[in-house]
Amino acid sequence: SQNIYILGIESSCDDTAASVIHNGKILSNVIANQKIHEAYGGVVPELASRAHQQNIVPVVHQALEKAGVAKEQLSAVAFTRGPGLMGSLLVGTSFAKSFAYGLNIPLIDVNHMQAHILAHFIDEEGFDKPNFPFLAMTISGGHTQIVKVNHYFDMDVIGETIDDAVGEAYDKSGKILGLGYPAGPEMDKRAQQGNPKAFKFTKPKVDGLNFSFSGLKTAILYFIQRETKKNPDFVKENLNDICASIQYTIIGILIDKLKAATKQTGIKQIAIGGGVSANSGIRKALKDGEQKFDWKTYVPKFEFTTDNAAMIAIVGYLKYQEEDFAQQDITASARLKI
Ligand code: KG4
Ligand code: ZN
Repeated sequence: SQNIYILGIESSCDDTAASVIHNGKILSNVIANQKIHEAYGGVVPELASRAHQQNIVPVVHQALEKAGVAKEQLSAVAFTRGPGLMGSLLVGTSFAKSFAYGLNIPLIDVNHMQAHILAHFIDEEGFDKPNFPFLAMTISGGHTQIVKVNHYFDMDVIGETIDDAVGEAYDKSGKILGLGYPAGPEMDKRAQQGNPKAFKFTKPKVDGLNFSFSGLKTAILYFIQRETKKNPDFVKENLNDICASIQYTIIGILIDKLKAATKQTGIKQIAIGGGVSANSGIRKALKDGEQKFDWKTYVPKFEFTTDNAAMIAIVGYLKYQEEDFAQQDITASARLKI
């Protein structure tokens, strides 16, 4: 069989990442996180773009070096075309175009949201690949979608958020509680030590398989303001219980929609992706679903759930086999759809 080496490049948000894949197996997966945004409590697009410009050359160099692959061995260069922040996407897109041009090898454009899903097809010991058709739920700081995956590049978005992403719900409520950015991991840790039924937040009523998280954030804000007026130390004294109650509400929303999606489609295979897949609550709820609802669930290796370039490289590999290549005049697309 053929030896195919693909370089994957990801720069859609605040992580500059590069990865080399040999056939279906990841040889390197390098990420430069941009710490700069922590001080601002969120990603600052202009700063993200500038940091990508500084990081991209060393990150690609490292990915090749760690893989033990010379750039002359590469079969193609795959890059994230969108969706994402335009200034960030432009850095990866321009770099990938000139790199592929210089090496005279094919260029492959990748949809970031498809990549989060297709990360499940990376060859990794101990991780099964889902069979078609399956449902994919992508949950992160930038996206919340339920997708019916008929085949690699035949996907239907059957539900998505109409306002905030689920990760934003974590990060914004964490900010109200005085936690650092991003707040998701710390809220998760505290939630595991708190009582999920201590406080009750109502779930939003949203039609069909769509999500809404902005109302929850406002409800939490008013709740905290009200309680703090009565007791200035309310948050400090109840932090773990508050986190547990918020997490309980959020996981409840996600699981309700997954139940509805399996009912609507008759598909019981569920794969998740995105940074929030690391959450202990969602992982446990999915495991429980295997017993309770006869689901088969798939959670990828942690490093392939958050933004990374390995998922871009695997899509590059899949498209390479179909000779689905991009032309040099391709442009980044901030609102690219699945
Ligand atoms: O996929 P990701 O690294 O970047 C994008 O947003 O695309 O996801 C980051 C998001 C943040 O909102 C972060 O708070 C959330 O994932 N997150 C978590 C956990 N780990 C990361 N949320 C809840 N529980 C976690 N354990
Ligand atoms: Zn992402």
